[in-house]
Amino acid sequence: MTPITNIEDLRRLARRKIPRAIFDYVDSGSYDEITLRGNRSELDAVRFRQRVLIDTSKRNVATEVLGAKLSMPVAIAPTGLTGLVHGNGEIHAAKAAEAAGTIYTLSTMSICTIEDVAAAVKKPIWFQLYVFRDREFSKSIIARAKAAKCSALFVTVDLPTRGQRHLDIKNGLTVPPRLTARNAYDIATKPGWALKVLMGKRKSFGNIEAYLKKTPGLLGAGAWANNHFDQTLSWRDIDWIRSLWPGKLVLKGITDLEDAKTAASAGVDGIVVSNHGGRQLDGSPATATVLPEIARAVGDRIEVLFDGGIRSGQDVLKAQALGARGCLIGRAYLYGLAAMGERGVATALDIIRKELEVSMILTGVEDVRNVGDNILYHPAAAN
Ligand code: FNR
Repeated sequence: MTPITNIEDLRRLARRKIPRAIFDYVDSGSYDEITLRGNRSELDAVRFRQRVLIDTSKRNVATEVLGAKLSMPVAIAPTGLTGLVHGNGEIHAAKAAEAAGTIYTLSTMSICTIEDVAAAVKKPIWFQLYVFRDREFSKSIIARAKAAKCSALFVTVDLPTRGQRHLDIKNGLTVPPRLTARNAYDIATKPGWALKVLMGKRKSFGNIEAYLKKTPGLLGAGAWANNHFDQTLSWRDIDWIRSLWPGKLVLKGITDLEDAKTAASAGVDGIVVSNHGGRQLDGSPATATVLPEIARAVGDRIEVLFDGGIRSGQDVLKAQALGARGCLIGRAYLYGLAAMGERGVATALDIIRKELEVSMILTGVEDVRNVGDNILYHPAAAN
């Protein structure tokens, strides 16, 4: 087998290992995928200054994010349906993250439950909350996250309704799912994937199913969630969530400077500059474009995290230079999980970590906690 040397190799392997409908669900973005592509192209466009003759032998890659000590400024982003990417996918990813000295964020829309995942690792995980119209659900799931000792709550604020992904509809990945000839063939030819998913602990949206009495199962829970994203959610509700959650509170899905400033005054501990990996408002700016102005405006008051398009350690160092305190990775870890389960997530994290270290050495960075814009190349300033 050709060696796996970068995240793109994991992506290619993932494509072969799991049904096309699940791969496309992970890989694609909403509508014309302008924002999805922008996340990548804007990071690509950032350039480093290569510096020489700087002693980086005592470099530090570790940091602290939201009170958690991380071996590098990278944590795993919340992703829904991860237990369909690989059987017990959430547990495998949480374990790989812990082994790499970092942290896993569990989505409300996971297959395994909060309790399943929290019990599988020693250190606290983070939990991501979708607020549904049924506020009793939110109250009960926040209480469960607290009981499971999750140390941070990420409230995702960029999904009052779902952006459409064309491929999900074409592939029949809808609620209810449509069995197309292609996905039937695809599943039949991926027995390794099917067996692991069938042998997984859960077969539905674990966190939601436990709450629904009448319509359990993947279909019932999926339909319930689809119909219950709360479009009345507003800044006032943040106080309510704050009153229920004593730990670190983060708003995920901010790309606008005004919103970032409001968040900083709203009593939260942090924000994630995120456009949901280009899966929501198509045509919204790439996260790398807006990160600097947001970090400059609020970075001294709240922790500014970043996600969108990170596929390498170079990307992580660029995000740090643009003002992020730390980064979340979505697809980069999902490709690893799809390709090789827990070992694949470990591989993804290891690749990113090694690339980050090499990039730090070549840019003369001693401490990943103090990376500034001065490590970036700006043609106008070069003369
Ligand atoms: C996501 N994302 C996401 N975010 C969230 O808050 N709750 C969720 O359930 C999900 N689900 C989800 C599924 C899949 C398949 C993807 C790819 C993404 C968004 C995620 O947390 C993160 O913001 C992006 O993935 C970051 O972009 P990259 O790293 O995937 O480019």
